[in-house]
Amino acid sequence: MKNVKFTFIDLFSGIGGFRMALANNGGECLYFSEINTDAINTYCENFHEPIEKNLGDITKIKSLPPHNLLTAGVPCQSWSIAGKNLGFDDDRGQLWNDTIFLLNQSKPDAFIFENVKGLVDPRNKKALAYILERIKEAGYFANYYVLNSFDYGVPKNRVRIYIIGFKDKKFAELSKKPKPLDEKVKLADILTDFAEK
Ligand SMILES: C[S@@+](CC[C@H](N)C(=O)[O-])C[C@H]1O[C@@H](n2cnc3c(N)ncnc32)[C@H](O)[C@@H]1O
Repeated sequence: MKNVKFTFIDLFSGIGGFRMALANNGGECLYFSEINTDAINTYCENFHEPIEKNLGDITKIKSLPPHNLLTAGVPCQSWSIAGKNLGFDDDRGQLWNDTIFLLNQSKPDAFIFENVKGLVDPRNKKALAYILERIKEAGYFANYYVLNSFDYGVPKNRVRIYIIGFKDKKFAELSKKPKPLDEKVKLADILTDFAEK
């Protein structure tokens, strides 16, 4: 019997990075949303999910059922320092609006949104301010942190912004940047583990 502590919906799920972490911490995924066929097939295979759990294109989702936590790895091309930096003039930038629309409509207890660190670049100051303002208008108290997954046990330098918000202000006030782990995992450590199995 699973010990479910909270439910979540996994938007822009990819192959399930959020899903894996949250499932390991007592989360039950109610639905996911993805449009890439290879990612959908991998996700269903990895987590033994029926294809019906995929809500499909986020721009076509009108509402979400009740859940505790909303996650979204919003596509990052629009903000990437390496990209054209089109921001909200680019269709993909509009996906932020769709994400916050669903947050506002479904009002989960909390959310985690992930994006490339380019979003905190001075050039994107207005875009980040706009996103944070819309989150506030939706009734959430949010903080954001720039974290490198390498500092938290992942054998890869992956620097991302995480915007974390709560409906209840006291949880937002308690939220703080997680302390980096003393021990880092290197790719060689993992490959050695596989080789030994
Ligand atoms: C940055 S990746 C997320 C990666 C994910 N966090 C993971 O662990 O694999 C963004 C994902 O959003 C998906 N996507 C793009 N537009 C979408 C849309 N309109 N509706 C749903 N998913 C979309 C892409 O196919 C891509 O897999």
